[in-house]
Amino acid sequence: MKAVVVDEFNRIENIGIKDVPEPSLSPGMARVRIQAAAVGFVDGLKVQGLYQTKDPLPFTPGTEFAGVVDQVADGVTLVPGTAVIGMARNGGLAEYICLPATDLMAAPQGLSPEMGASFFANYLTGLYALRYRAKLQAGDILLVLGAAGGVGIAAVQIGKLLGARVIAAASSEEKRQFALKHGADAAVDYTSADWRDQLKDLTAGHGPDVIYDPVGGEVSLQAFRSIAWNGRHLVVGFAAGTIPALPFNLPLLKGGALLGVDLAQIGRREPAVRDEAMRQLFAWLRDGELVPVVGRVFPFAEFRAAFTAMTTRAALGKMVVRIGA
Ligand SMILES: NC(=O)c1ccc[n+]([C@@H]2O[C@H](COP(=O)([O-])OP(=O)(O)OC[C@H]3O[C@@H](n4cnc5c(N)ncnc54)[C@H](OP(=O)(O)O)[C@@H]3O)[C@@H](O)[C@H]2O)c1
Repeated sequence: MKAVVVDEFNRIENIGIKDVPEPSLSPGMARVRIQAAAVGFVDGLKVQGLYQTKDPLPFTPGTEFAGVVDQVADGVTLVPGTAVIGMARNGGLAEYICLPATDLMAAPQGLSPEMGASFFANYLTGLYALRYRAKLQAGDILLVLGAAGGVGIAAVQIGKLLGARVIAAASSEEKRQFALKHGADAAVDYTSADWRDQLKDLTAGHGPDVIYDPVGGEVSLQAFRSIAWNGRHLVVGFAAGTIPALPFNLPLLKGGALLGVDLAQIGRREPAVRDEAMRQLFAWLRDGELVPVVGRVFPFAEFRAAFTAMTTRAALGKMVVRIGA
């Protein structure tokens, strides 16, 4: 089968598609014929060996995918032919993947492979963070940083579904329009010198009750300085490349809280919460209240362009690679 193979940590230009043996089943596993796989910011770091954990070499990048069950091990109840979505440590950018059947979920009816591949990580992170960590309430003001990125746009949509007033912060007019199109109530250019004044005006001096922050760097500190009394700042990621250090007097002065969010640990540490959140997300999908945002779709042969969009800050929504029929 064809798969993207990282033999050594390298820039994406130096990584290619190779012919490798098809993966075979072990007990409890299912094999999926992959139709689409998503590329996130983390994938771009992983291929270069810049992520906090390193996958053993060689590996195939890609943690989120959608496809069709192709074979199952004895005793596995999943039926071949079932459309599924899944997450794995790696292996998504390939024609086939084998993984524990319990890591797969049947795709809701009518969900395209591109949407299925874009759904798992960003929306689960968003709902977990906003509902279970920040306890976002209807009527709260939610500020989403990096609001047009894959993680950010999901938080905009989920914030609206939870009844918040959503303010999208993004660096370009195109990105702000994208966030407004997907439900944000207002948008602010957080690269402008007076953006905190604009935020103050937009919230009538109140400030955001909840900040969803996949960006990091200086903008995180500026945002926390604008937070409402009793505000909750969700630490989601550091796309800007710098991990900010928050002076401890700020949470004191704001009565505010800094809350960490780690999707990788939810299933292990809070399986009941994860399952409840997934049930809610699937219900929204089924009822048509939530439509996952697919940014751009690239043919398999052009997978590098999906990575480049992430690393050049050019991506709007999730980047998806189409692999099989
Ligand atoms: N905690 C978790 O469980 C979890 C789960 C998933 C992802 N994440 C993290 O969330 C972050 C965002 O992931 P993503 O897939 O949404 O990425 P993305 O689509 O590239 O979005 C990131 C956004 O960050 C902003 N940004 C600011 N400075 C940047 C820079 N120097 N380079 C690139 N982007 C920059 C960009 O918006 P502007 O141009 O508007 O500034 C961009 O849209 C990553 O750090 C990822 O590791 C965390």
